[in-house]
Amino acid sequence: MPSSDEDTPTSHIINSEAEKNSLGLERMADAVFVVLLILHVGSIVAWMGGATLFVSVLAPSIRKMSPASRGEFTLSVLPSYMRFIGGSSIAAAVTGLALYAYIIQMGPPLAPSNSGLTYIQIGAVVTLIVLLIAFGILIPTSRKLVELLKMSQKQATPGGDAATFAQVASLQKRLGMSARLGVFLLALTFILMIVGASI
Ligand code: HEM
Repeated sequence: MPSSDEDTPTSHIINSEAEKNSLGLERMADAVFVVLLILHVGSIVAWMGGATLFVSVLAPSIRKMSPASRGEFTLSVLPSYMRFIGGSSIAAAVTGLALYAYIIQMGPPLAPSNSGLTYIQIGAVVTLIVLLIAFGILIPTSRKLVELLKMSQKQATPGGDAATFAQVASLQKRLGMSARLGVFLLALTFILMIVGASI
């Protein structure tokens, strides 16, 4: 026999204004969380992709080039590459911090558990170390390298004299080593974030 209106369980019906309002706010909170997460993951893809490309393709190829073409390639690629890495790393950290602040303030339904947040906090500390490597070693070293290469281009011999050549090689070595360490720490942070968000 079909049930009358009185028999219908009221738990499935949202009838009060307060319930409708709180459901609307919850959905909006979810939307903000998802937008921040997309921006965060988007900037991470740019940062990690750029850094991995440098370590696995650019640095080994540069090593095989002749001093003259190495200088030319480095001068044309390195400044814009470092701007890209600097911008995407700052965007990743800012969106990550915004996500963290949002979770702490609003506690959206998609937020990680308390133990998950611990992994994210450890990931944030590792990110800080990577940022120190990027802005304290990588970017200043690449600036020095670009200046040195510009100076050596003005000299008569392509690739510069022996002293300049040795200095360029040591700066390139420092660049390669710090980039490899940065990529390793980024991969570690990536794992910490995924685990933190899943548990
Ligand atoms: C200041 C630094 C950072 C902070 C404060 C931060 C914070 C956060 C927060 C709060 C979330 C949301 C967790 C969730 O979905 O429930 C998140 C997600 C994520 N973060 Fe970070 N993050 C930072 C840096 C990074 C870095 C450097 C990486 C990569 C190397 C990274 C990779 C990710 C990924 C992949 C997710 C999505 C995880 C998932 O939903 O499965 N984050 N981050």
